[in-house]
Amino acid sequence: MSTHEPRKTFAIISHPDAGKTTLTEKLLYFGGAIHTAGMVKSRKSKAATSDWMEIEKQRGISVTSSVMQFNYNGYAINILDTPGHQDFSEDTYRTLTAADSAVMLIDAAKGIEPQTIKLFEVCRMRGIPIFTFINKMDRDARDPLALLEDLEEVLGIRSCPMNWPIGSGVDFQGVYDREKQQVEVFRKGEAEHSRSFMPVFSEDADEAAVRARIGDTLYEKLEEDAELLDIAGDPFDQEKINSGKLTPVFFGSALTNFGVQSFLEYFLRLAPGPAPRMSDKGQVVPESSKLSGFIFKIQANMNPAHRDRIAFLRIVSGTFTRGMSVQHVRTGKKIKLSQPQQFLAQDRNIIEDAYAGDIIGLFDPGIFGIGDTLVEGNQAYSFAGVPHFSPEIFARVRAKDAMKYKQFHKGMQQLSEEGAVQYFTTAAPGAENMILGVVGQLQLEVFEYRMRAEYGVEVEIQPLGYSLARWVKGDKKEHELNLIQYGGSLTVKDRAGRLVVLLENEFAERWAQEKNPDVEFVSTSYE
Ligand code: G4P
Repeated sequence: MSTHEPRKTFAIISHPDAGKTTLTEKLLYFGGAIHTAGMVKSRKSKAATSDWMEIEKQRGISVTSSVMQFNYNGYAINILDTPGHQDFSEDTYRTLTAADSAVMLIDAAKGIEPQTIKLFEVCRMRGIPIFTFINKMDRDARDPLALLEDLEEVLGIRSCPMNWPIGSGVDFQGVYDREKQQVEVFRKGEAEHSRSFMPVFSEDADEAAVRARIGDTLYEKLEEDAELLDIAGDPFDQEKINSGKLTPVFFGSALTNFGVQSFLEYFLRLAPGPAPRMSDKGQVVPESSKLSGFIFKIQANMNPAHRDRIAFLRIVSGTFTRGMSVQHVRTGKKIKLSQPQQFLAQDRNIIEDAYAGDIIGLFDPGIFGIGDTLVEGNQAYSFAGVPHFSPEIFARVRAKDAMKYKQFHKGMQQLSEEGAVQYFTTAAPGAENMILGVVGQLQLEVFEYRMRAEYGVEVEIQPLGYSLARWVKGDKKEHELNLIQYGGSLTVKDRAGRLVVLLENEFAERWAQEKNPDVEFVSTSYE
């Protein structure tokens, strides 16, 4: 086996504005991957728009920042970007299927917000470890205990604070590292902190010096808090962390670069490396010598003159070398991987080799689909597919020109294979039976544009009032469901012919569940 740095592959989950861009930037900075602040920032565009150039710009830029790799302390670290804001889409969810752990970033003043909850649910479904960073402590924050209570009450996850804030906002003095028994000191007015520590509560602590630094009131408060956490808090438990039942919590301030480096060091120590993955022929371990991986995201080139796409492959096992041949299991074809790309901040690099845990971008002339497995050698197996996640926006869709039905159908087929949209069909006859499902508004705009640009079809999109899709587990038939007396639902089939119920809201979902106690409704599907 070749030697290479151990991998840590993770995604940052957060609600817009919690500071994901800022945190990412600091992490890349520690890895020496970027040298100026603001490099990652430029990809952001806050204006919602249907202007094509804008979409292209956003998409183009987000291609290069889809995965960022950097090195720190002997580790190779892959950060997977999870698009937020108006480019929130099913991709955001799918990306989490390629991560081995997640960093949950929370704004200390706002607590847990809606987008965080959604992304958290996907992480929970996979049982991956979640590390919490509570950000913006340099601003007025909510009570830290209340924030931890929220983790438990809103998300249902136990927490174990690794450090503890000393004041917040103008009174913020730093954080107390519980394991090392030291205060990491925050100095006001410093935009970029270099680290400075003071031992506390231990033999080598100089109590007077710490008191002088943080003030008597905060010192006594810290003493009380530290004791309380030791008695009442959840103890550190690596196994519970590994299974996603307990989240280590860190407080800090990304903008002032305070606590980020210490967080990174703990994270690298505690977060798992590349996980084994189940295939239909048993578990595949990262140490296996043969390359294997799965496609979790496909990014179209929005320029109609260049139809090529980039398929993102998460390597599960083995070593990738440029020019090697692999088997595309779904079609049985051999493919030569000659132009792979790895992504680092804003540059695209052609890479020579990559290892389990890494993500590489493959040039895709249109052969790959979401969830496809690639393996080296003749032994074929498939990884469990990447699931579909419940869309939140539904619309009836048809070709404006009925004569274009064939192209329309082809476009629907290909765009859904690529994962750009999902479609469902109703029992209605002919062209009126197609329902589009997307997670974010931008997906609809991109769909409309691409149908026109790539398939020559003008589509008519008519919004529907549903906000949830629930797959019906097992082999229940439509007529066995009791949904008739209520107008807030519609029974449809997904692309693979599975039974799905579209529902207006959570109330409708509860109603459906009550009327069908023996039916299991689930919010994701596996292909
Ligand atoms: P996002 O990617 O999660 O959407 O968040 P982003 O990093 O863009 O941060 C959102 C805003 O929060 C930014 O301010 C950023 O400077 C600020 N911020 C991030 N971390 C911290 C922190 O630790 N402390 C404080 N006080 N602010 C923080 P903005 O005014 O929206 O952006 P900009 O105009 O400064 O670029």
